[in-house]
Amino acid sequence: MSRSDRFDIPCTAQERLVLDHVAHAAAALGVPAYVIGGFVRDKLLGRKTKDMDIVCVGDGIALANKVAERLGGNIPVHFFKTYGTAQLKYDDLEVEFVGARRESYSEQSRNPTVEPGSLEDDQLRRDFTINAMAVSLNPADFGALVDPFNGLQDMEHKIIRTPLEPGKTFSDDPLRMMRGIRFASQLGFTIDPVTFAGIREHAHRIRIITQERITDELNKIMLSVTPSVGLDLLYKAGLLKLIFPAMTDLVGVETQEGKGHKDNFYHTLQVIDNISRHTRDLWLRWAALLHDIGKPATKRFEEGHGWTFHGHDAVGGKMVPRIFAKLKLPQNEKMRFVKKLVELHLRPISLTKENITDSAIRRLIFDAGEDLDALMTLCEADITSKNKQKVKRYLENFELVRERLREVEENDRIRNWQPPVTGEMIMETFGLRPCRQVGDLKNAIREAILDGEIPNNYEAAHTFMLEKAAEMGLHPVKLP
Ligand code: CTP
Repeated sequence: MSRSDRFDIPCTAQERLVLDHVAHAAAALGVPAYVIGGFVRDKLLGRKTKDMDIVCVGDGIALANKVAERLGGNIPVHFFKTYGTAQLKYDDLEVEFVGARRESYSEQSRNPTVEPGSLEDDQLRRDFTINAMAVSLNPADFGALVDPFNGLQDMEHKIIRTPLEPGKTFSDDPLRMMRGIRFASQLGFTIDPVTFAGIREHAHRIRIITQERITDELNKIMLSVTPSVGLDLLYKAGLLKLIFPAMTDLVGVETQEGKGHKDNFYHTLQVIDNISRHTRDLWLRWAALLHDIGKPATKRFEEGHGWTFHGHDAVGGKMVPRIFAKLKLPQNEKMRFVKKLVELHLRPISLTKENITDSAIRRLIFDAGEDLDALMTLCEADITSKNKQKVKRYLENFELVRERLREVEENDRIRNWQPPVTGEMIMETFGLRPCRQVGDLKNAIREAILDGEIPNNYEAAHTFMLEKAAEMGLHPVKLP
């Protein structure tokens, strides 16, 4: 086992205090203890750390209890006897304890059979070499890095590699295939070819993992600096087809009469990278990922013209709730936001043409409401031409649209707007209960204002309502 000299991990005062208490508690119990895993990795990478994993060669639950006692203040220890793990929280720092163990897994389940083992057994059962490094908390070599699988070297070379033969690591816990790809995407690392071949080979095993955990990793990939790295790896590993087939339906180029269309998968990946330079909002990134999802279903070849995807915005929008449900993403306003952006993503482009009326601009402001800026960000990210001149021209056109949007908004204040005559007013005026006619009248007033037929004020809307109602055979029950 390779042990380096004293190794200084730059810790916060709080982390240092906890580590000191762990060291003293472990010494008192006579069990060797180490800090291990993500904490060590992230410290070495200079990333922010959240939780701390402690492994001891002995009883992890007893160590946790001793540490809690030393920290004082009646800190509760949560433990799982079956797995010999325990957890405590000190301020906002979560500390997990485990007794070093050997694990064996059955084919059908993620739940391992566990037996006590050495530190190296414990490191060997971990997912990647960069996650298997430990730092000693023992008096003889406090601070020494214990790195039997050359995690430090892999970290320097930016490589994701399993400590064991990859087939074993991945069939033990198939979620690790997603984790490996996620780390590659988050950290800008490369997956070692043998490890990647292992992922490809065991991709089908992802089926035993719950959707929530898969989606959690997918979201972490979506939030990485360059999400295309992880998404492309998922595709190339054969995982994307299993977890998200609507995405892989976008792959490929078809040619007819010498005319091809762009590869919508790689176009989408570029759009998501583009948007990620401007936003960290997960849902706006999801909108970018799904903006063209309706294309495979709407693809047609029109003779003499070429490939078309008419209506892919509406079809894509309809697909969003189903995709969110399948991936166990929220069914709330986040989903409605993504759906709305997918549905509207072609609208600003249509406003880059000449002679666009105020009413077309007003309609977009009304339909997009408070999501107008997000929509414009999506549309700009959707420009993926390789021709720099074209990109410049498109961006300038969008800048003009933004200007028009600002002008019309300043005049009309249509964003988050409600028409000046409400449904209640209509019901009261004509003595109606809620019914279709009320909706029709309300829509007619809104449309007339959006079209610029009448000004956006109560007087005009009220007069219009009376005229329209008369046409429908309705008469006021009392004159206002
Ligand atoms: N681990 C593992 N296999 C898993 C999950 C975790 O081997 N499927 C090990 C790794 O050594 C990992 C440690 O347990 O470093 C802690 O796991 P966790 O806290 O879930 O992940 P981190 O590696 O800390 O990274 P992140 O919090 O970004 O997921």
